[in-house]
Amino acid sequence: MITLDRIEKRFGDNLVLKGVDLPVAEGRVTALIGPSGSGKSTLLRCVNLLEMPDAGRLAIGEIRLDFRPGAPPARRDVLAVRRQTGMVFQNFQLFPHRTVAENVMEGLVTVLQWPEARARARAMELLEKVGLAHKAPDWPASLSGGQQQRVAIARALAPSPRLLLCDEPTSALDPQLAAEVVAVLADLAREGMTMLMATHDLRLAESIAHDVAFLEGGEIVERAPPEVIFRRPVDPRTVRFVETLTGERTASRGAEEAQPPRS
Ligand SMILES: Nc1ncnc2c1ncn2[C@@H]1O[C@H](COP(=O)(O)OP(=O)(O)OP(=O)(O)O)[C@@H](O)[C@H]1O
Ligand SMILES: [Mg+2]
Repeated sequence: MITLDRIEKRFGDNLVLKGVDLPVAEGRVTALIGPSGSGKSTLLRCVNLLEMPDAGRLAIGEIRLDFRPGAPPARRDVLAVRRQTGMVFQNFQLFPHRTVAENVMEGLVTVLQWPEARARARAMELLEKVGLAHKAPDWPASLSGGQQQRVAIARALAPSPRLLLCDEPTSALDPQLAAEVVAVLADLAREGMTMLMATHDLRLAESIAHDVAFLEGGEIVERAPPEVIFRRPVDPRTVRFVETLTGERTASRGAEEAQPPRS
């Protein structure tokens, strides 16, 4: 079990995470939903220490970190947590002047100091897995958004992290390209990859999440399996939010249907 315990994060006077408790079961997928500004990205960034929490505890693998203001954790522990957590961003964040293969190899070579040949072999294995081995020598800009995100997923998986963090992995993509990315994430979920992902994508959350946590105002309001959160949520705040999500989904379905059929 990976656990977040009473995690707090403030930016100036703004207490953005107000003591978040979240167990992330290993081998399972936890979706994080909530309105814009509720703290989803901040929470994910706190898990891989891109942001340093101000208080609380994080346990992942053998590592236990206690956060206190003014007492940052040891550098060694920070690096250890980062190695255990891969991150996939909304806007891919690939290096534009590196080939697809080099993007996947980058962390292995520079951070883990793997020999080039070993890193390349690992990159090819992962590109194969996301269906993009044939794009290995290409530049990221020549790929579709869905393909770029699949490369970013391969890159995040390269060092075999214990936990994959995904921040809105499909929201920059139109529905067809998002579906490619959902398929790759669904494969990973079936293989037992532990994931924590912020998403507005109902299809993604419903199809692959085992648990859904609803975050509002920096607090987890409700956590339950997707069929409960999306069909019979308990807390009135969850009910309100899920209604807005469902409304969005209905609207975007309408838009898809309005497109002319392909010949
Ligand atoms: N680096 C920062 N400096 C100051 N405030 C920040 C910073 N990052 C986030 N915040 C604030 O923290 C709050 C939570 O932001 P966060 O990006 O985590 O929300 P979110 O749930 O991911 O929203 P969205 O759905 O729009 O991505 C917001 O009020 C935001 O303005
Ligand atoms: Mg966000």
